[in-house]
Parts: sequence; structure tokens; C-alpha cells
Amino acid sequence: MNLPRRILITGGAGLIGSHLADQLLAAGHEITIFDNYSTGRAANIGHFEGRVRIVKGDILDKGAVDAAIEGNEYVFHMAAAVGVANVVGNPLNVILTNVYGTENVLAACHRHKCGVVIGSTSEIYGKSPHIPFSEDDDRVLGSTRVNRWAYSTSKALDEHLAIAYGREGLRVTILRYFNVYGPRMHERGDGQVVARFAALALRGEPLTVHGDGKQTRCFTFVEDAARCSILAATSDTPAGEVFNVGSEHELPINELATVIRDRLESKSEIVHVSYEEVYGKDFEDTRRRVPNVQKARDVLGFNASFDLDAGLARTLPWCRENYGKVG
Ligand SMILES: NC(=O)c1ccc[n+]([C@@H]2O[C@H](COP(=O)([O-])OP(=O)(O)OC[C@H]3O[C@@H](n4cnc5c(N)ncnc54)[C@H](O)[C@@H]3O)[C@@H](O)[C@H]2O)c1
Repeated sequence: MNLPRRILITGGAGLIGSHLADQLLAAGHEITIFDNYSTGRAANIGHFEGRVRIVKGDILDKGAVDAAIEGNEYVFHMAAAVGVANVVGNPLNVILTNVYGTENVLAACHRHKCGVVIGSTSEIYGKSPHIPFSEDDDRVLGSTRVNRWAYSTSKALDEHLAIAYGREGLRVTILRYFNVYGPRMHERGDGQVVARFAALALRGEPLTVHGDGKQTRCFTFVEDAARCSILAATSDTPAGEVFNVGSEHELPINELATVIRDRLESKSEIVHVSYEEVYGKDFEDTRRRVPNVQKARDVLGFNASFDLDAGLARTLPWCRENYGKVG
């Protein structure tokens, strides 16, 4: 299936959204970006210079969402209140943005007969011990008193909404991204550990590893995440399909800290801080997070092109160039 010409990207000034815009523009699409610049930045999309339409707006504003989507033929919904730090600090904002914002986007897509890909997350699986995570696995979460699980739950509700709209005729696909990193990551790095370590290493400050650092993640280079998203949008899969998007290479956070520090030739120490110190009491982490990506491979023909070495080779020079300069 060919992707239609006129495409709207919510969250297009953010990490994944701006790289989607790059790839879609290169393929000749007309792009509109809808963003409130809460974690995205004008600098991320400055290079488009009049080649994309930019609408500053909030996905919680139903009228603005509807007006922006009208006239478009496909939507990539990437706007969200993201990250674990964000949800621990401001759970209400995260829940309301992700649930009501996504409902506004899905309803408008349904009304205007737009297909849509929605960005979901590996956080969906919670602390499931069944490694690797497959799309139909059970979710294993802790108590509702642990704020961290509100992010996972808000995204799960988005998925339920998407699947329910799919039954009503909406062409929708759900993508669960696993730890995406790359140029244009916010240096504050809310929940984005590659950005956080790079910023600390460049400032010569200690790289603070949370917990014992033996917890693992699989890191996905943003250009791969964007390419897979476009493959999903062009595939003929039935409405409501879910795909893991990520690399299968599992890395302990201790090793990530060492690699980033050494590649940036930084003299920063690597130190460990308890979760309680960082996030307060009642925080739970996920020890291992590894996707099974067989479905994306079989159905979408997706294989990650960038291993960590190649992804960091593109990312860290960008961090060196940009961190400390952009807000
Ligand atoms: N980067 C990752 O590791 C990762 C992992 C799993 C899932 N995801 C999901 O992918 C999507 C994109 O994430 P990202 O990494 O590009 O994050 P990002 O923060 O770089 O991008 C999100 C964008 O959405 C915008 N936004 C936030 N709230 C908004 C609102 N209320 N109205 C309009 N715009 C708003 C932000 O300004 C930003 O530009 C999100 O749905 C996120 O949950 C990302």
C-alpha cells in the first residue's frame, strides 16, 4: 500500500516525529507538524525552512486537533507526555495528556477517514519476567500507588482506544518503541538515559547510574524507529495490529555509561544512586527489557540497520555540538 501524500505528525518537533518528517519529506510527502513544544523544540525542525506546515497546538485542544487533521490523509501520532521522570513528577499531566490527547487524535482521524500510526511503548510490558516481550504477552504491573505505572497504563489505554476505534473502521497500527535515541534527543533526558549520560559526560559531571546498573535495555536508533513506523503505515495489516519496534541487543546500563563516557573521552566518574534518591519512595524498576521483533521482521520486513556502535557514532557528535546550546 502506498502512503497517501498529505501527512500530519503530532509531536513532530520531538525526537521520533522530526526524524519521521525527514524521511517522509525525502519521499515527497506534504507534511504538517502539530506540537506544543513541551519536550520538542523549534531547533529540531528549523532545517525544514518553509517546507513543512507547522501548527503550534496542544493535543488536549479538541478543536485544534480536528482542524489540523482535516485535509490530511494519514497521521503519525507521536505527541505524548513521555518518560518515567515526567510521570513520577507530574502523573496527572501524563495521564490526562496521553489518554484525552490520544482520544482527540483518534476521534479526529476516524471522523476524517485518516489512517493513523500511534506511538506506544515498551513500558506496556511493565515488569514482566517473560523475556523477550512478545506483542500478545500479559502485562505485569505493580500497585497503582506506584506512579511509574501510570505511564504504562496511560499508554495501554491509548492502545485499547486505538483497537476499539479499529473495530469501528479506523485504519490504525500501534507501535511499541524500545528505548529510542539519536540526534535531537532532549538533553534534559527525562527518562532518556543516552541523552542524560551524554550531557553529564560532556559537562564532566558524574554519570549517575540508577540502582545497581545491572538492569538492561535494548537501544534503538531513531532513524530505524522512524523507518519502521513508515513501513507499518504502508503495510496492509488489519486495523489494531501491534508491533514491537526495537533492537534485540541487550545492554546493562553500567556498560552504556562506560561506552558513552569513553567515546566522549570524558573524565567523568560513574557513580550509583539509589532509585529512592532519584524518584522518592515507592519506585519500582524493570530489570530486563528485551523485545521479540519477529513480527516486525516477518510482517513489515523490518530489520534494524544501526547497532549501538553505529547509532552512537551519529548521536554523540550531535550531542557534543548541541548540548549546552539548546534549551
Ligand atoms: N524515545 C523513546 O525511547 C520512546 C520509547 C517508547 C515510546 N516512545 C513514544 O514515542 C512517541 C514519541 O516520543 P519521542 O521520544 O519522540 O519524545 P519527544 O518528547 O522527543 O517527542 C514528543 C513530542 O510531543 C510533543 N508534545 C507533548 N505533549 C504534547 C501536547 N499535549 N500537545 C502537542 N504536542 C505535545 C512534544 O513537544 C514533543 O515534540 C511518544 O508517544 C512516546 O511515548 C518513545
